[in-house]
Amino acid sequence: MSEKLILAYSGGLDTTIAIKWLQENYNVDVIAVLIDLGQPDNLQDAYDRALDTGASKAYIIDAKDEFINDYIYPSLKANAKYEKKYTLATAIARPLIAKKLVNFAQKENASMIAHGCTAKGNDQVRFDVGIRSLNPDIKIIAPMRVWKLSREEEIEYAQKNNIKINVTKKSIYSIDENLWGRSIECGNLEDPWSEPLEEIYKWSKIRKSEKDNEYIEIGFEKGVPVSLNSEKMKPVDLILRLNEIGGSYGIGRLDMMENRLIGIKSREIYEAPAAEILLESHRELESLVSDRELLHYKYMIEDKVSEMIYYGLWFTPLMGCLIKFVEESQKYVSGTVRIKLEYKSFNVVGRKSEYSMYDYSLATYDKNDMFDPKFSESFIKIWGYPYEILAKKGRTNG
Ligand code: ARG
Repeated sequence: MSEKLILAYSGGLDTTIAIKWLQENYNVDVIAVLIDLGQPDNLQDAYDRALDTGASKAYIIDAKDEFINDYIYPSLKANAKYEKKYTLATAIARPLIAKKLVNFAQKENASMIAHGCTAKGNDQVRFDVGIRSLNPDIKIIAPMRVWKLSREEEIEYAQKNNIKINVTKKSIYSIDENLWGRSIECGNLEDPWSEPLEEIYKWSKIRKSEKDNEYIEIGFEKGVPVSLNSEKMKPVDLILRLNEIGGSYGIGRLDMMENRLIGIKSREIYEAPAAEILLESHRELESLVSDRELLHYKYMIEDKVSEMIYYGLWFTPLMGCLIKFVEESQKYVSGTVRIKLEYKSFNVVGRKSEYSMYDYSLATYDKNDMFDPKFSESFIKIWGYPYEILAKKGRTNG
């Protein structure tokens, strides 16, 4: 009996021809696993294609809720953005996929896992490190890392092996999508000077006019969104809805130069309307309810969490500790944020919470002012002492 291998299958050209290649080169039974994270692909078609191409079994797993609750929400609570910009849609999905693959390997008694990542990206690192952190005995195979084929050669291989693929549908761009965002590379995007063509956008195609605008209200409980315009919503529906509304205004586009883990720079385009709106709203609500020391200290944690998600270090002791810190910081992050959506932009225009630290009588400049000015002078006197002393000794910096 041949050994079994679990393949992270997407239905695309690379992982489809990989089924044949793995059988030829490793003499294995290929079990294709399709993980539904809210990508718009037709998963049933992909399932059929896997079996047609020779996979001995195929599975579709709906992991959307787990994705949101255990990966997206911790990252939202951490206000995670890699290099202060990228909302991490692709990156945050990888540890979950790795975990599912390892679970399947155990269930099916498979000794190998294969994925379709190339040798140049971050995803190979995230899969490999994720899988090895969960089960170091599993052998990992990345056909695209071993087998250097151009797109034309892949198509030729498919034709020679009677593999049914829809070549005309294959775009020149490399795209990864899930609920949290859409990542786009290749084509003319490989020239950092060249403007992205409108054709690459799908979620943020503008369907509003420059005069349109609307207000939305997002309700949060302990750092996670629970309602939209006062209507309680299931996490999946809320994210999909925000992608839809935000996208219609052209919100959520990002064009950035990014530093990959493996040391090369790449030009990346993202569409993430819901992620952008939720991250901004969450941060604003935190600013209302949390004290300065916590907020400022948390910025450091946020950068570290973002970097670790990007670097594929999810299943690590430090991540465990950081996530606990972040979780603890969210106890009072409950309330409502009001957002104005406009042509190609959005702004938080209001926030309220029963845990608000804002004190009107201290902040106001009108006649209701309760702030006692006499304390300020003494406070500043003490605060400034060290510099007064240095100045007297001629040691002023500047
Ligand atoms: N650069 C991003 C990351 O490493 C996105 C990669 C997405 N892949 C793609 N085929 N567009 O997380």
